[in-house]
Amino acid sequence: MADTYSSQSTLFSSIARLVPHLRPILPRLFLGLVSALAASLVALAIPQVYRVLINSALHPGGAASSVWIAAVVVLVLGLLEATFVVLRRQFVIVPATTVETGMRTSFYRHLQQLSVAFHDRWGSGQLLSRAMSDLNFMRRWMAFGAIMMVVTTLTVTIGVILMFSMSWQLGLIFLGAAVPIVIFGFRFRRTYGQVSRKSQDQAGDLATAVEESVHGIRVLKAFGRGREALDAFAEQAAELQETEIHKAKSLAVFSLVVTLLPELALGSGLVVGILLATQGELSVGSLVAFFATAAVVAGPVEAMGPLMAMTLAAKTAIDRHYEVMDAQNTITDPEEPVHLDKVRGDLVFKDVHFRYPDTEERAADMLDGVDLALRAGETMALVGVTGCGKSTLLQLVPRLYDVTGGSITLDGVDLRDFTVHELRTHVAVAFEDTTLFSNSVRENVLLGAAEHPGLTPDEVLDQALEVAQAGFAHTLPDGVDTLIGEEGLSLSGGQRQRIALARAIAARPAVLVLDDPLSALDVNTEERVEARLRSVLSETTTLIVAHRPSTVAMADRVALLQDGRITAVGTHAELLAGNHHYRYVLASLSEEPKDLDTDLDDELDELDDDAREVRA
Ligand SMILES: Nc1ncnc2c1ncn2[C@@H]1O[C@H](COP(=O)(O)OP(=O)(O)O)[C@@H](O)[C@H]1O
Ligand SMILES: [Mg+2]
Repeated sequence: MADTYSSQSTLFSSIARLVPHLRPILPRLFLGLVSALAASLVALAIPQVYRVLINSALHPGGAASSVWIAAVVVLVLGLLEATFVVLRRQFVIVPATTVETGMRTSFYRHLQQLSVAFHDRWGSGQLLSRAMSDLNFMRRWMAFGAIMMVVTTLTVTIGVILMFSMSWQLGLIFLGAAVPIVIFGFRFRRTYGQVSRKSQDQAGDLATAVEESVHGIRVLKAFGRGREALDAFAEQAAELQETEIHKAKSLAVFSLVVTLLPELALGSGLVVGILLATQGELSVGSLVAFFATAAVVAGPVEAMGPLMAMTLAAKTAIDRHYEVMDAQNTITDPEEPVHLDKVRGDLVFKDVHFRYPDTEERAADMLDGVDLALRAGETMALVGVTGCGKSTLLQLVPRLYDVTGGSITLDGVDLRDFTVHELRTHVAVAFEDTTLFSNSVRENVLLGAAEHPGLTPDEVLDQALEVAQAGFAHTLPDGVDTLIGEEGLSLSGGQRQRIALARAIAARPAVLVLDDPLSALDVNTEERVEARLRSVLSETTTLIVAHRPSTVAMADRVALLQDGRITAVGTHAELLAGNHHYRYVLASLSEEPKDLDTDLDDELDELDDDAREVRA
């Protein structure tokens, strides 16, 4: 997908976007620039001392003492140059890291705000590489590339003027070499800019591949697909390598031109210079000074290739950064939000339409006029065949997506009239595929916990764990302080689901949205959870997708989702008696849990062992 982003921005318009971030460090950047410039000017001054020195030493009657003075002056100038180089680094390094950190933090904040629809479209690796390596590029460019670019240009310009002042004939020879360099420079900028964009995008896709395979390592192993994943990865890595080689080659060609042409000019200049000197048109001092200046200028000219490359990579990084930063958050707060102190929990769907952003024009809406009213405190089960849009409907309640037509109201207030923050304190969710963070059980469960009058956080935690039948947490090595999630202890699917459910319960919402959150529990545990839920959360409106007839039977009422509409609402018994489609759906729902708390890990380990034996 990465190839589809083409950036129309010019180098300057891209760099201009950095200016607001640079403002706070502008004084220091300026001092850095001045230091760098001073270092260059000092370097250019040294040949002038040679000129005076040689001319006066060769002059009949030249004083020997002036040689010593000149030597000391050259030494002092050399020290001065070194000092300015150190100063430049001192001035810019820390401020540049400050800018990098600031931009990275606002990037992360922006990612948090962007809607789920945005994250559906973007690979995690693309975001990861933008947050890490692109910002790193930018920082290095700010601290070094940008300043050196300015200084190089100025040094070369001043150097060439000085060279002209010493001998216009020799100056012309050098300027002649500059013309092809400029032409090559423009060509280089275009091609290198494109390749650098491609390589940074490919690096992002590669990061996505690593992320996915690490995440899915069990599946890959269990199905013995590690080899295929590796092959696919190797192919992607090889593509990146090819791009990198292309990049390096085009830089090499440019560097060759930039190095070779000045050398040629220097060689032919030497011949012409000696001729001029023998004819007396040029003093020996000027001749030496001219070539000493040419040597000083050669450095910056040769650096132009890498500097240009660095600048183009930074431009790409800036463009990639702002592609994300420019993405608008589509789930926004209203201008005049409604605030409710106490929510009863009347949840009403009225002619709700929804389609995912990238669906085909012709396709019908995923949700095509859903009408459903949940009374405060009621538990409603949502039933329908797989893929009919149950999860989609549930995600509309906390506004992970917005309806594309119709409305959903809570106590008569359109969900979009609350601030997003307030809405999400009224609504809590638990999904089937649970995400736990690398944190303790306690922090995971209390993630969205509200203040409970008269209860300490520990009591809230204990109660939530008890209701979710997640008492096992107390028996973990460090109890509820055990680290879980990716960096911590691995829990089974059912254990994870119960922690996630406890998290939703601890939030004490007015509306609880549960997307098949008990699918990995055995029937008995599920029934216990349901019973406790109903007694503790008797005032909470609950919308639950259930996969098991026994769960459905425990709900107050059942709604049947079919072809994007609610086609029947009633008690389990009523629907069972009078609705053919309902009977069909229920028959297709299994009494067995989808992924029972089995010893899946052991099985996977065994598979590993088997694979090892086969290989051996
Ligand atoms: N993020 C998404 N982007 C585009 N299409 C999606 C997305 N999530 C789900 N879908 C599609 O919407 C349909 C309904 O999915 P879902 O609501 O998960 O069904 P259910 O939960 O009833 O099994 C499916 O066809 C699925 O492919
Ligand atoms: Mg679903």
